[in-house]
Amino acid sequence: MISVTNLCFRRQDGDQLQTLFDNLSFEIAAQEQLALLGDSGSGKTTLLHLLAGLLSPNSGNITVNNALISSYNAQQLAHYRRKIGLIFQHYQLLDCLTVKQNILFQHKLNNPNKAHSELNDLVEQLGLTNKLNKLPSQLSGGEQQRVGIARALLNQPKLILADEPTGNLDQSRSHQVVEMLTSLCKQRKINLIMVTHSQQLTRYFDSVKVLANGQFND
Ligand SMILES: Nc1ncnc2c1ncn2[C@@H]1O[C@H](COP(=O)(O)OP(=O)(O)OP(=O)(O)O)[C@@H](O)[C@H]1O
Ligand SMILES: [Mg+2]
Repeated sequence: MISVTNLCFRRQDGDQLQTLFDNLSFEIAAQEQLALLGDSGSGKTTLLHLLAGLLSPNSGNITVNNALISSYNAQQLAHYRRKIGLIFQHYQLLDCLTVKQNILFQHKLNNPNKAHSELNDLVEQLGLTNKLNKLPSQLSGGEQQRVGIARALLNQPKLILADEPTGNLDQSRSHQVVEMLTSLCKQRKINLIMVTHSQQLTRYFDSVKVLANGQFND
């Protein structure tokens, strides 16, 4: 469960101070899957970064699964970040590593001595079994994003934050990727927050919020 109370976040924009969030409060239930919409520049990525502990609020509380991350110090935040899954628009795969190495890379950094018992299951569910030894450049966009999803899921996160994961995909691949992502998160009881510009993709989600002027119009 995610609870945000009176969140204020300002950022320096040239010589002006830009207020992105002013007393924003909301809750997301355990296992809820939320689609986050809003115009370009409305602050969707910034909000994901606040929930990921990559940015800190000026004031207000952010609680993720009972952890009050807005009060965490740098070391605690680094530890917290390792336990969430991040999925990006541009996949962020390492070009010189194979699909398998890409999926395992972060997992190995976090758990050098732990076996990756889930790998085979996960790549099968994502239709990547026969792609494991390929390089990202040999995959389609949809396949690359499925590698990004496998990488995020392998760490068994309780929360996945996805920032326009279908932004580079055509319509049919977008639906395929989002259907897989939402169903895998449901099976694994993972909270999912996905930013998208596509109204059509919101049908896969439990709830939809639209960000405008630092507030939700839902
Ligand atoms: N690193 C930064 N430094 C200063 N201002 C920034 C920075 N990143 C974003 N902004 C500004 O913060 C505001 C919100 O940006 P954000 O990236 O959160 O929007 P967004 O809703 O994700 O937009 P998009 O749909 O285009 O991705 C914008 O006005 C943007 O110009
Ligand atoms: Mg963005």
